[in-house]
Amino acid sequence: MDREIVVLPDPGVVAREAADRWVTLARESIAARGRFTAALSGGSTPRALFSLLASEAYTDKVEWDRLLVFWSDERCVPPDHADSNYRLAHETLLSKVSIPAGNVYRVRGEIDSGQAALEYEEAVRREVGTPTLVGSEMPADASVPPFDLILLGMGPDGHTASLFPGTAALREKKRLVAANFVPRLNAHRITFTPLLINAASHVLFLVAGIDKADVLRAVLEGEFEPDVFPAQLVKPAQGQLTWLVDRAAGAHIEQERGHH
Ligand code: 6PG
Repeated sequence: MDREIVVLPDPGVVAREAADRWVTLARESIAARGRFTAALSGGSTPRALFSLLASEAYTDKVEWDRLLVFWSDERCVPPDHADSNYRLAHETLLSKVSIPAGNVYRVRGEIDSGQAALEYEEAVRREVGTPTLVGSEMPADASVPPFDLILLGMGPDGHTASLFPGTAALREKKRLVAANFVPRLNAHRITFTPLLINAASHVLFLVAGIDKADVLRAVLEGEFEPDVFPAQLVKPAQGQLTWLVDRAAGAHIEQERGHH
């Protein structure tokens, strides 16, 4: 795993750096494989990135009809609900670019969470799965589809996607997508599991705000305690892990020099 941590002046610059990387990764993936498979994160941080990608400055830099869009997690609510991660992305980005509706894979948060997780895992395997390599050596992780990019955020409690401290999905070793009950929220969530996240070619964390500074230091520089700090589970084996953080969130970390 190659890890880089980039501390940038403010959330706006973080969004711009993320947009530039999105454009570069999309171009590389489409050139190499004819498509770009991306999983979006939820919450509030990605809003600035989505708006930027839909803006004049960026929208023409991406071949939107070559994208397959998924979510790295979703709340168990209908698509028009204020808490829906789908709704955030649809309103700020997907409704403004020429991505075919059939290329947008929404988690059905409105149905039973177990069923939603099962059908979403099937969609990931079907659409992102690597075609079986007949005759040649199968890659070690052939059974886990490799997203070109998975966007992630991190909560002040160190959760990422909907992998919350002390919850069952942290220990999921077989499933790619899990329905995860979160006692603190008294709610179910649908989430990518560490297995799927760590098969990605690129994982990009976007973290901003002073309320993340303490937990970011614990995650990046503290003891390995994934049950307490689930973001520590993100270690893409063959992939690139990038943290884009603003100065406020990065206040307590030693800025790394270059790549690890
Ligand atoms: C979600 C997100 C979640 C988010 C963090 C950070 O569904 O809530 O996927 O993992 O990334 O909670 O959220 P903010 O960006 O709002 O701080």
